[in-house]
Order: sequence, then structure tokens, then C-alpha cells
Amino acid sequence: MSVAAAVNIEDLRQMAMRRLPRMVFDYIDGGAEREWTLRENCRAFEDVLFRPRSAVATRGCDISATVLGTTIDLPIILAPVGSSRMFYPRGEERAAAAAGKAGTIYTLSTLSGCRMEDVKAATPGTAWYQLYLVGGRDVAMGTISRARAAGYKALVVTIDTPVAGMRERDARNGVKQLLARNLSTVPHLGQMLTRPSWLYNFFGDGGLMNFPNIVLAEGPMGYADVGAALESSATSWEDFKWIRDAWGGPIVAKGVHTADDARRAVDEGAAAIVVSNHGARQLDGVAPTIRVLPEVVQAVKGRTEILLDGGIRRGSDVVKALCMGARAVLIGRAYAYGLGAGGQTGVTRAIDILRTDVIRTMKLLGCSAIKDLDGSYVDVPSGWTARLPR
Ligand code: GLV
Repeated sequence: MSVAAAVNIEDLRQMAMRRLPRMVFDYIDGGAEREWTLRENCRAFEDVLFRPRSAVATRGCDISATVLGTTIDLPIILAPVGSSRMFYPRGEERAAAAAGKAGTIYTLSTLSGCRMEDVKAATPGTAWYQLYLVGGRDVAMGTISRARAAGYKALVVTIDTPVAGMRERDARNGVKQLLARNLSTVPHLGQMLTRPSWLYNFFGDGGLMNFPNIVLAEGPMGYADVGAALESSATSWEDFKWIRDAWGGPIVAKGVHTADDARRAVDEGAAAIVVSNHGARQLDGVAPTIRVLPEVVQAVKGRTEILLDGGIRRGSDVVKALCMGARAVLIGRAYAYGLGAGGQTGVTRAIDILRTDVIRTMKLLGCSAIKDLDGSYVDVPSGWTARLPR
């Protein structure tokens, strides 16, 4: 079935499940521990109810947004997603190209399989670079100057990985054993044979990738257990100063869950923050992101730009987040399913679905511009906040 037939993001998810081996699909689809936050990130959007204005003519609909001085054609940015090259040949380049053609920003993960210079060259649009301190400060300094020279416009510093989250699906699927080449102990290895098109693409693209943007003394880091890599890359607020000095451009702090951390990020000079729980891949039991957005908006008082990720599967989710004070959202799984299902065409389809959804939702709300959305268009459970921005 072609990705053109996908009506919603769930359809792309099903298509990705059919094309990818279970191990790869579960890496995208799974979350930490009992996956409560994973489910809640999506479900909590159902607690936010729309208050439309009827009998309002909205012929045109301006859904452009400005983030860190860059105007994007839709308020949806592609989030960093590690190991995208496992989902589709040259996956990061394909996703970046789709984002740029759609008029939005692509964020490249440190844990990616394509060279950052090639990814930047693949997109006609703006790109951001997500930084993990894998390999330590000297390695990161080298990465930062490479990212600047390649033309990345912002550095996204992830702050929620002091230790790797427990992704039980990865543990059960034997990801560690596979990477240690301990093949006889990998439970679902045979499943790869039932995914011939993926297998053909995977070997055609060079097989198990390495991480060309993490350059250690001995060369690019080999494809390692992502959990171990995350664990070795904890970032603290003290690191912000040297990162800021080395980068010299806007820093985005990704992984803010509370008002206190939002204020701290502002104090450390973050030009934007992402209200994020890492797609529920780190601390299970943390609140869904849409639930904490009002608290963060109130704490920040306009001193930094606020973005949100986690659980976005529909354009109506995007619009709800914008009504509640986010300037734009980031999507991870929503486009990764598209990439896994059909490469660049799948990512483009995911973006198209969400764009069309956003425009339709805006018209049904009786609102003709993103900049006019505010808290008056939604009802939010009373426990979430005392006051919404109007
Ligand atoms: C990497 O950041 C991951 O969540 O797998």
C-alpha cells in the first residue's frame, strides 16, 4: 500500500510496522517502562476541549509561525530522532529534504547515521543540530564548530538524559546483543528475513551504520547501544556556559517539565525551550507535556520562546498546543513512522496530513491566523492552570 493512501498518522504507523523488522519498529514506537507517559502524551490532548466561533468566514488561513527569527510555513518542526538511517536509506537526509521542501525546520540528532554536512546540504530549508555530549567536552567542541560551519542555525541541548530510560521493548528485542554481534542470542533475528524490502535497502545503504558526527580520537563512533550512549552524555546546567560560548548562536533547551526548569533555562540563556519528556522514552510516570505547558507558560512570562513535543498525532493537537501558548510544536514519531513506511515520500505525507488537519481545524474554530490563537479557543481542566494567556 502506498503512503499516499494514509489518511492519518496511525495509518503510516501501521505501514511502518509492516515494512520494518520488529526491532527497528519498536525502537521508534516504544517508550520507557510501562509506557504510561507514552500513552498519556497522546491521550491528554483529549482533555483539552475546543471552543469554536461559528459563522465566521475564514477564507484564507495563515499557519506560518516565526521561531528564533526563522519564519516557517507551518508551526511544526521535525524533532531530533536518533538512528533514522536504520528506518530508511540515508534517512536523516531524506527527512531533512522533506522538511525543507515543506517549508519547515529539520533537527538532526547527534545519534544519526548521516554526516551533518550532507544532511544540511539535503535540505533547502533551515536545520538545527541536537547536541549530546557523547565522547565528552572536547568531542562536543569539535561537533559544535562543525555544525556552525555547516550552517546549522540553532543548537538543541537535550537535558533529560542523565541515565538511559528503560525501554523494555529494546531489551526484549535484544538490541544490545545485536550490537555486540552476539547474534545467536537475538530473539527476533529471523523476523528481518520477513521484511525483504527493508533488508535489501538496509544492506544497500551499508548495513549497520556508525555515528559520523561523533568523532572520537580513533574516528567516528561505531553503532553502539543508544542507551549506553545516552548515559554517557548527561548535560548539566553548568555545561550551558561553555556550550553557549563555543556556539555563539541561539540555544534551545529540550526536556523541560516544570516551571522551575523553565526559569532555570531562561537564566542560562536559552533562546527557546522545548517542553518535552523525550517522547516518553526516559522517565515514565512524568506528566504528559500538554499537561505541563500552562505551568511553563506562566513561569516564563514571555522571556523565551516555548515549543512543545510529545504525543502530537493530529493537527488538532498542534492547534491545542498553540492555543495554550506554544509557538510551534516538534514531531518525532509522527514523521518517523512516515520515514519507516516510505522514506522521503512518507515524511512528506506525514507533514501534509498534519498541515491539512491544522488548516481544517483553524477554519472550524473560526480563526484565520495562528497568531490569533489563544486560550479563549480551548477549555483546559481546572487543575492544569489557574490562568491561560489571552
Ligand atoms: C535517543 O535520543 C532516543 O531517545 O532513542
